[in-house]
Amino acid sequence: MNEAILLVGGKGTRLQPLTLSRPKPMVSVAGVPFLAHLVARARAAGIERLVMATSYLPETFRAYFGDGSAFGLRLEYVTETEPLGTGGAIRNAARLLTGGPDSPVAVLNGDILSGTDISLLVERHRAADADVTLHLTRVDDPRAYGLVPTGPDGRVLRFLEKPTTAADIVTDQINAGCYVFRRSVIDSIPAGRPVSVERETFPALLASNARVLGITDDAYWLDLGTPEALVRGSADLVLGRVASPALPGPCGEALLLEGARVAPDATVAGGSTIGPGATVHSGAHVSGSILLDGAVVEAGAVVRDSVIGAGAVIGAGTVLDCAVIGDRARVGSGNELRTGLRLWNGAVLAPDSVRFSPDPRTSIPAQSGVQHAAAL
Ligand code: GTP
Repeated sequence: MNEAILLVGGKGTRLQPLTLSRPKPMVSVAGVPFLAHLVARARAAGIERLVMATSYLPETFRAYFGDGSAFGLRLEYVTETEPLGTGGAIRNAARLLTGGPDSPVAVLNGDILSGTDISLLVERHRAADADVTLHLTRVDDPRAYGLVPTGPDGRVLRFLEKPTTAADIVTDQINAGCYVFRRSVIDSIPAGRPVSVERETFPALLASNARVLGITDDAYWLDLGTPEALVRGSADLVLGRVASPALPGPCGEALLLEGARVAPDATVAGGSTIGPGATVHSGAHVSGSILLDGAVVEAGAVVRDSVIGAGAVIGAGTVLDCAVIGDRARVGSGNELRTGLRLWNGAVLAPDSVRFSPDPRTSIPAQSGVQHAAAL
C-alpha cells in the first residue's frame, strides 16, 4: 500500500485575512481548495492512503474530503492539540501508517504547487535504499528558503535554513517541501513535542551518517505561502502552465465557475478565476486574480493580481493591484490602490479616499481593519 502524509496544520499567517476563516490549504486556487489539487496529484502518483496532519481549523478538512472515496483514495485524519511543527506532525501522523519499518512514506507540504513526479521520487528512494529522499528545486534567490547542497552522488551535504551571509549561499538548490521517508526514520523522531524537520531532523540524520538523498529537477514549483504566489499559482493552473487533474474546467484565460456572471464588455484574463456566483460588471477588467464566491467587481473597476474574498465588493472605477480583500469587505468606488492592500474581513474603505501614492504608509488613512502588505 502506497502511503503519504500531508502536512496541513500551519496557521498560514502570511495569507491573512484569507486564512482567518479557512486553513491555507483550503483557500480556493483555480476553483477548488488548493489541497484538492495536491490530493489529485498524490492519487495520480499511485498514493492509495493519505494521512492528513491537521492542527489549525481541523474540521474543515474532513468536511470537504470525508473518507477520500470521492477522490479515489483513503483519507485518515490526525489532529495536534498544540501545533507540533513539521517534524512533530510527521511523527504524530505515523501512528496511522500501516507499512512496515522499511516502507517508503511520501510526505508533502500542504502549500506547494509542483509538477514533479512523486512516484519517480519514491522509485529513486527505493533504488538507492535511502533513509530520506528530498525533492529539491532551483530558485534565482534562495535566501528565503532552506538550501540543500548535494554531492556528485546526490547525497545531501548540508542543510542551511534561510542563510543570511553570502558565504552560506553555496547552492541554488532548495528544499521543495516533498520528501520520501523510510518508515523507521519517522518512528525515530521524538514524540509529543514540537520538532522542525528542516532544522532538527534532517541535520541530525546527516550527523548520524544516514543516507539522505536530494533529487533536483526542473519541474514547475511554487510555494503558495504568500498572496503574490497564491495568485500566480492559481493563474498558472488556469492558463495550463502546470497541470492538475482537479482543475474544474478547461484551461484558458479565465475559469468561470457555476453562477459566475461577466458582463459582455468586461474582460477577465490572465488566468483569473471567477468563483461561484461572483459578478464582474460592465467595463471592468480582471486579470491574474481570484474572485471567491459571490465577490462583486463593479463597473469600470480594474483588479490585477489580487484575491477578492467571498462576498466582497470592489466599487465602480476602483483600481486594485496585488491586493488581498477579506471576505465581505467593501472597497468604495473611485479608489486607486497599487501597492498591495490587505483589507480585513468585513472592513470598509470609503469611496474616493485613496489615490495612488508610492509610499504605502501615507496612502491609506489609519483605519481599523486596513493593512498594507509589505511583502507583496
Ligand atoms: P505561515 O504562517 O504563513 O508561515 O504558514 P504556515 O503556518 O503554513 O507555515 P509553513 O509555510 O512554514 O508550513 C509548511 C507546511 O507545513 C504547510 O503545509 C503547513 O500547513 C505545515 N505545517 C507547519 N507547521 C505545522 C504544524 O505545526 N503542524 C502541522 N500538522 N503542519 C504544519
